[in-house]
Amino acid sequence: MTQPKARDTFTTRWGFILACAGSAVGLGNLWMFPWRLGEYGGAAFLIPYLFFVYILGTTGLMGEFAFGRWAGKGAVGAYDKAMRERGLGFGRLLGAYPVLVLLGVLVFYLIVTGWVLRYFVSSLTGAFLDAGPSESYFTQLSGQPESIGWQFLAVIITGGILVFGISKGIERATKVMMPLLLGLLLILLIRSVTLPGSMAGIRYLFVPDWSYLLKPITWGMALGQAFFSVSLTGAGMLVYGSYLKKDFDIPNAALSTVTLDTGMAIMAALIIMPATFAYGIDPAAGPALLFITLVSVFQNMPGGQFVAILFFLGVLFAAVSSLLAIKEAVVEAAMDQFSWSRRTSVLLTAVVAFLCGIPLAVNQNAFDRFVDIITVYLVPVGAAIAGILFFWVLGIKTARAEVNIGSEKPVGPWWEPVAKYLFVGVALAIIGLSMAFRIG
Ligand code: ALA
Repeated sequence: MTQPKARDTFTTRWGFILACAGSAVGLGNLWMFPWRLGEYGGAAFLIPYLFFVYILGTTGLMGEFAFGRWAGKGAVGAYDKAMRERGLGFGRLLGAYPVLVLLGVLVFYLIVTGWVLRYFVSSLTGAFLDAGPSESYFTQLSGQPESIGWQFLAVIITGGILVFGISKGIERATKVMMPLLLGLLLILLIRSVTLPGSMAGIRYLFVPDWSYLLKPITWGMALGQAFFSVSLTGAGMLVYGSYLKKDFDIPNAALSTVTLDTGMAIMAALIIMPATFAYGIDPAAGPALLFITLVSVFQNMPGGQFVAILFFLGVLFAAVSSLLAIKEAVVEAAMDQFSWSRRTSVLLTAVVAFLCGIPLAVNQNAFDRFVDIITVYLVPVGAAIAGILFFWVLGIKTARAEVNIGSEKPVGPWWEPVAKYLFVGVALAIIGLSMAFRIG
């Protein structure tokens, strides 16, 4: 009889933390956070944001890591195990939900990563610097057949790393990409804040307008941003947790992930806003910020080509390291449920994501709508389901005991109501808030 193969694991503490930071630091940090910080009261926005990300973000992350480690499986297997423990059924069906949602995230994230690749290559050749208005350069790509080839390249890069598994694939790649990303951000930050006229951008970001604290939308935006930014989806961080050894300190890893994610979001704000203000360009949110506004900045800046190369390389690292967790959640589910090899699962997931992405890659309106529905409405439901299963169905005592295994500073009894009531209640409330405010 053949022995079942031992599960691949993360081999070092930093390997795991960098992989999680890689998953968390992504487009949410680069194209949403800077804009929201400025738009919703500057430093005043940081108060609800830091509260949500440190209290609820860390709690949710601890829950996902510990749930995955407890089950030794990703979402489908873990939800199934939790329901069976209590004599209940339909766990696999529930677990399929966040995995399918992440497949949807994978579809659009690959398209955007394709755009980033095109811009990185164009920075190397200098093509977009003398290509005329940055807006038309972008519209020649987004929603056009040209983006399909770049999307394909993103599929190859992500699959090429994931096929090597956890320790030799994800851990190795993120151990290189994340320190480099940090270094690139530091260089760019120094360049940006030393531009003449950059002070206006710094003021825009940090001068607090306290009146925003009285507006519910500020809190809604901060909450949605906090959940999206630390990748609370009910599957992505959970699957990383399933590759953890029992002696690993989960509370410490959750805190480190949130700190790296928040630090890099603030650095991104300090790169993007001072530069756009220095050149008198109106900042926007979303793809336009990276691919139109900033390109105008690079076109005008002395040495803009070099800065653009560093910038798009950084965006590429941020996007690819997020893609790894998104895709791994799907790949692991395929391996676990259908007993396929990693290679087959990576290949089939790649084919499905690529083919589903083609209609969106060539239709910008459909793409925008798809991104909205997935991120605003469908993702938070997954985080809520994972919280309900781990904190309620399996039980909060078991959950806390699992979180604390291997921890130097175990979380105290206070953690139980925060996880059980506050986290789950807020995760459910995000869905309503998103509908009310159209966060996206
Ligand atoms: N957390 C990832 C991001 O910010 C998905 O883009």
